[in-house]
Amino acid sequence: MCGIVGCVGAENAAALLIEGLKKLEYRGYDSSGIAVFTKDGIRVEKKQGRIAALEEKLAADGYPKGTLGIGHTRWATHGVPSDVNAHPHSCGRVTLVHNGIIENDYELREELEREGAVFLSETDTEVAAHLLDRFYTPGHPVEAIAAAMKRLRGTFALAILFSDDPEHLYGVRKDSPLIVGIGEGEYFLASDVPAILNRIGRYYLPEDREIAVLSRKGVSFLLPDGTPAPEKEPLTADWSVDAAEKGGYPHFMLKEIMEQPETLRAAIGPRCAHGVGGILKKELPDVSGVERILIVACGSAMHAGMVGKHAIESLARIPTEVCIASEFRYQNPILKKGDVVIVVSQSGETADSLAALRLAKEKGTPVWAIVNVVGSSIAREADRVIYLYVGPEIAVATTKAYTAQVALLDLLAIRLAYERKTVTEERAERLFGAMNRLPETVRLVLGQTERIRNLAKFNREAEHSFFIGRGQDYAVCCEGSLKLKEISYQHSEAYAAGELKHGTISLITPGTPVVAVATTAALLEKTVSNAKEAGSRGARLLLLTRKSLKPRDTFYRDLLLLPDEEELLMPVIAIVPLQYYAYCTAVERGCDVDKPRNLAKSVTVE
Ligand code: F6R
Repeated sequence: MCGIVGCVGAENAAALLIEGLKKLEYRGYDSSGIAVFTKDGIRVEKKQGRIAALEEKLAADGYPKGTLGIGHTRWATHGVPSDVNAHPHSCGRVTLVHNGIIENDYELREELEREGAVFLSETDTEVAAHLLDRFYTPGHPVEAIAAAMKRLRGTFALAILFSDDPEHLYGVRKDSPLIVGIGEGEYFLASDVPAILNRIGRYYLPEDREIAVLSRKGVSFLLPDGTPAPEKEPLTADWSVDAAEKGGYPHFMLKEIMEQPETLRAAIGPRCAHGVGGILKKELPDVSGVERILIVACGSAMHAGMVGKHAIESLARIPTEVCIASEFRYQNPILKKGDVVIVVSQSGETADSLAALRLAKEKGTPVWAIVNVVGSSIAREADRVIYLYVGPEIAVATTKAYTAQVALLDLLAIRLAYERKTVTEERAERLFGAMNRLPETVRLVLGQTERIRNLAKFNREAEHSFFIGRGQDYAVCCEGSLKLKEISYQHSEAYAAGELKHGTISLITPGTPVVAVATTAALLEKTVSNAKEAGSRGARLLLLTRKSLKPRDTFYRDLLLLPDEEELLMPVIAIVPLQYYAYCTAVERGCDVDKPRNLAKSVTVE
């Protein structure tokens, strides 16, 4: 996830671009850059670090003078944060900025290199610049963009300049956000309304693959074949500036919950670009010889590991342990040949997880890392890295990084199972298809928000609540319960459903909220029995299950039905309403949702 902005007609494009990028900094801040048409041609300025670093550079070098330009703030995906990898990227007559992930960048890079292309950066974006330049003949920019789009797989929003066309700015998108803003004698491209809110009154939302052509005279939209796109109505930009920073949401956590269809697609898409046999091949070329897996992590990342253990053991039949990183380090772990340690971490800086990684490496055990932050300590020190690609997560309570961690562990389980032939090819293909559908399935779940909000309202005064489930549903309960207690301060416990009666049931009193998660067909009856035991003691029961598993008797007080999907994927689908439930409860209780007390986003102390 990155932020892009472009403008034409503005008095001082460079200053405007910087202003816009600052508003988009929440989308990433590993590096930033601008390109402006000056009287001497396009001038590119870029710098690793926050936008302030670019401003310092511009103050020293002088701002480029011109009225047309593009800008970018980067969240590194392909290639570490550095000046060279910063956008804009140029090739020949083309200079562009990009938000998204080009899934086939590796093949395209190889193909272009065979034709003599020389790449300066490690980014997938530079591949797009080369491709566009290859297709470009002067006077025909739209044809070049259309031809390049045909070759690009993945997601992209691009803002493009052609050095022999100083009057125009071009924009195009596929599954990444891009808006076209209308100001007074000036026109804009941006990832988001906030970047340009104070300059525009109205804006357009271009459709996927429509090419926006911006000049000082106005905006037009073309289809890839060069014909005009269907007319569209402009929307009014009536957001408050404060709300706009959060994309219109009152809290980052809500924004991050809501963007999960997009972030799951970013995490899953590139890994599935080469069929079931190619899953994670780029990150893990060789997975043979793995005899035991130890997943080491903290908090929610550890809960993701619990789901991963279930997936890997049930599909690939590889014994898998989940270790709390802070314990692993001091338990003198027994590690032997054939073991692999997988460290899961959003920040890549969690001290306990990093210490566990170092210990495993000291003992000669290969370490794979599933990490969000590119270039973080864990990413750098692991033998192999699988990035989440979900963009910066700003709310302290993790949501979109957690679901991506689970999805990637699921993908790893499918890959291992496929190679070891512990599942049939048909089953592997079915699971692969379901993984590709997962972002859309999650989008469906996000449609049930009103009912969940009402439930949170009702339960807001409760002092304690419980989450019960079995198997992988128990892992969902652990995460659902953590989410609720950490942001709403309502005390909550997760229990393996069968354990409740061994002590904790004495805490159930009339009205105590109990959430029963039951998405696994084989365990449904057992979990339902345990839920009924709690219900008989007065618990206010919420049952979370799949449509096809809905019990005939209505022993519960509230019901949330989830779409039917492969059971393996249900933990990702089931956690989304629980994240939202936690969020609503916290709002109802007047808590500081994005910054809960006593917590920090990145825990760099032991
Ligand atoms: C809870 C949460 C934490 C983190 C944990 C590990 O919402 O965010 O439990 O999951 O501190 O952090 P990372 O993933 O950065 O290693």
